[in-house]
Amino acid sequence: MSDELICLSIPNFKGNEKRYVDEAIEAEWVSTAGAYIGQFEKNMAAKLGVADACACQSGTAGLHLCLRHFNVNAGDIVLVPTLTFIATINAVMYQGADPVFFDCTDNLCIDPSQIEAYLSEECREEDGKTVEISSGKTVKAIIPVHVFGDHCDMVRLMELAEKYHLYVIEDATESLGGVFEQGQYAGMHTGTVGHAGVFSFNGNKIITTGGGGMVVSRDQAAVDHMRYLSQQAKDDVLYFVHEEFGYNYRMTNLQAALGLAQLEELDQFLEIKRKNFERYCELLRDCSYGKIHPFKYKNVNYWFYSFKLNEPDAEKRDRLIKYLNDNRIQVRPIWKLNHTQTPFKGYRAMDCSNAQYFYDSIINIPCSTNLTEEQMDRVCALITAF
Ligand SMILES: Cc1ncc(COP(=O)(O)O)c(C=O)c1O
Repeated sequence: MSDELICLSIPNFKGNEKRYVDEAIEAEWVSTAGAYIGQFEKNMAAKLGVADACACQSGTAGLHLCLRHFNVNAGDIVLVPTLTFIATINAVMYQGADPVFFDCTDNLCIDPSQIEAYLSEECREEDGKTVEISSGKTVKAIIPVHVFGDHCDMVRLMELAEKYHLYVIEDATESLGGVFEQGQYAGMHTGTVGHAGVFSFNGNKIITTGGGGMVVSRDQAAVDHMRYLSQQAKDDVLYFVHEEFGYNYRMTNLQAALGLAQLEELDQFLEIKRKNFERYCELLRDCSYGKIHPFKYKNVNYWFYSFKLNEPDAEKRDRLIKYLNDNRIQVRPIWKLNHTQTPFKGYRAMDCSNAQYFYDSIINIPCSTNLTEEQMDRVCALITAF
């Protein structure tokens, strides 16, 4: 068997990437102005069916812009999943707000029932706001994360948000291309249902700009304000007048050139991700000790694949990871749960036993769009042989 390294998730640049980046360099427009930025925003907005989009430096920056725009500040509470990449929570910390951690359902996404219980039993309404009874703090927002590309239950979350006066910022950093199937949101892209949505173009995402992000909202004024904040909140380009403080969060023209070319490939990548997922399921169907974890919905982007042990067993999970890494297959456990991370230990967490169950039983396996059939065969042969 070959011992070539098979990476977890690497970019796929076989379209116009080089051409557009070369054009940006030749034009000498490489920084935070240039035609590709606006074009990338326009094409993303068209793809997602929204009026406008704001290109920024990263998904984390995008989440921060949303929280800042919705006036989530020190002393406010934001409801977050424990099972997510730490960036979701870091953005809350940047605003000095308090995260409250929630468990996941079987598709790894935040549990709306647990949120409903918290809001109805532990909060009260005060002057049109929702206030946590024990702390007196205002609950301002929910950040549902579409984990690994599967979808949160946006119908229930939006109902709760309306009833309890909350903003919903969809962390769609992992779910670009996914389309909801349920209820009144059927046909809408992930990221476009909440008050704002955020995408990431980090190197491991379905499309990449090296590093980058995009914020979308159905509210044009919100997108305009976030774009303004992302450019140091500059009101006057000649005299450099600033009425607010902002951030250096604008995407560069070089990144946007890459993004524009990658977006042209998105439909093809979605098809490959789906086919590779199905192939993994088939190859590991008879594995005695684990299976590929299913996606709950059909129109997902199949971004990241999870191999799940039949029973949670952290020691076995770690042995499997070591065995595959020793055989030059890059795999990893899902993120250490955020409510157990040192910076967040002082914050409230609900019972997160479902997330713990998945943390102890899942590893993520290679999912690049340029994986070959031989590489997938090798991954599965090693998993089966373990
Ligand atoms: C769930 C989640 N949220 C936020 C981020 C942050 O995105 P970025 O790395 O572009 O800052 C990522 C990805 O890296 C992520 O996976």
